[in-house]
Amino acid sequence: MVCAIPSALHAFLSSPTNVIAAVILLLVLTALWSVLLPNGFPPGPVAWPFLGISSALKGDLSKALTDLTERYGDILSIKVSGRRKVVINDVNMVREALVKKQNEFAGRPWRYYLGLLSEGGESIFHCSYSPKWMTRRKLLVRAIRNATSGRKMNDSIGKAILQLKNSVDDRNEEPFNPRHYFQLTVGGAVASMCFGRKYGFDDPEFQEIIKTAENVVKGFGQRFSADVFPILRHVPTKGVCEIKKVISRWLMLIQSKIDQRKAKPNEGEVYSVVDDLLKCKKDADSAGEDGSSCLTDVHLRQMLSDVIIASMDTTVTTLTWLIAYLVNYPDVQIRMREEIDDVIGRESVLLSSDTGKLPYCRAVILEVLRIRTNVPRGVPHETLDDTCVGGYSIPRGTEIWTNFWNIHMNPKYWQEPDEFHPERFLDGNGQALPTPNTFIPFSAGRRKCLGEPVAMHLLIRACVGLLQHFTISTAPEQGKPSLEPVFGDGTTKCRSYEIVARRRIDRAIE
Ligand code: HEM
Repeated sequence: MVCAIPSALHAFLSSPTNVIAAVILLLVLTALWSVLLPNGFPPGPVAWPFLGISSALKGDLSKALTDLTERYGDILSIKVSGRRKVVINDVNMVREALVKKQNEFAGRPWRYYLGLLSEGGESIFHCSYSPKWMTRRKLLVRAIRNATSGRKMNDSIGKAILQLKNSVDDRNEEPFNPRHYFQLTVGGAVASMCFGRKYGFDDPEFQEIIKTAENVVKGFGQRFSADVFPILRHVPTKGVCEIKKVISRWLMLIQSKIDQRKAKPNEGEVYSVVDDLLKCKKDADSAGEDGSSCLTDVHLRQMLSDVIIASMDTTVTTLTWLIAYLVNYPDVQIRMREEIDDVIGRESVLLSSDTGKLPYCRAVILEVLRIRTNVPRGVPHETLDDTCVGGYSIPRGTEIWTNFWNIHMNPKYWQEPDEFHPERFLDGNGQALPTPNTFIPFSAGRRKCLGEPVAMHLLIRACVGLLQHFTISTAPEQGKPSLEPVFGDGTTKCRSYEIVARRRIDRAIE
């Protein structure tokens, strides 16, 4: 009997007709598996075997997904890189998934690159929901709050904003591309908040942090075959070796900063996130609690890496869009400047407690976050259980995309969504309205961006720091900055542009 199966198989395969029939059957089954959807699953374009649905996703992905909603509705499925993904395009369904059923939708799909960067999934960003992950996320949120409360936020951001102003002044009204300065400003503020040192833009240690962080961010845009064929994770290609080198340099840099703070805890200029986390670890150790195993050096490295990497590209790109819009809409720039002059004056520093006094500036920032949604398809989630949304069944382990672009540009939710109109966030008296629940650039629920207050504060401080001193306009012989979005590696980029920043003279003669 033991030999009966192989000999039967042998007999079957010895006939060429049988082999051809078996191959055809296999192809038909593969095709059916590819084309048929699980019961109750959201509809979507047919995924042809080996071809997927690339023909249905021509052009910019976020726009192509929005176009698909016309045919398949507010929730649909697509097959990309061999896996079915569910795309949610409607704000109520997004909130049903991310808020109402937040535990079921709080997973993260595995990505090769993020797996390397997160040292096997130990980061807040890349790890799926679990009670330990939740504890660490809460500790990080508290550490950021403690490091930015009261005057501390002003301390860590103040020097970076002053250097931004001085660097722009040094351009002496010559044309320049502001993106690099925004990187230094955001990087300087966040590094200071994380490590407790106020960095000068030309400090070699700071330059290395920024350069390495930039290289790490670039890795997000790369496609890795290992995401589709896990076996390739073990093949040391040139690209993979280079990326591993960058990641290892990055993690070593962060570890060296942690070690410095451990050695000389009171030597910092600013109470920082790392100080708070180390204090928390020490308290847990002395109380003999399990807390210390929840905060190993790997976790500390990963939390700090999360904060710097997650804040850099997003906040810098938003600032780049903001200035592009202010040059295209000089009347909006004038109104912001008037509000700043009236409330803060030309020389005073904006304190965190004052940001509520600038409703128009805040409205402009919100409108930029809406009209050029930074993370247009959200960061992918994964279902941790069999669940449902919008009446459709979604099995455990399904990747979920949230189409924030469609929500922010949808005439169902916003009047004239293509128009840049900051007033939509203000009431008739020019006061701030509560943000509508259709405004969702930082996502929602269990995995909502934990840096929103820092990002908003940085954006408004940078606006005030620049508009107090400069009028920003088109560089001579160059057109206005393009407002056409470039959808790249999951973020909405702005085309590179140059501007001129003219020093403001006296307000009375402007
Ligand atoms: C304009 C700036 C920013 C935008 C538009 C933005 C947007 C987002 C979005 C859409 C997510 C994904 C949430 C989800 O998975 O549902 C996210 C996650 C995250 N953001 Fe931000 N972010 C910004 C700035 C920041 C800053 C300044 C920090 C740090 C201080 C930060 C830290 C994080 C972290 C750690 C996560 C991962 C949260 C998790 O997985 O639980 N972000 N952000």
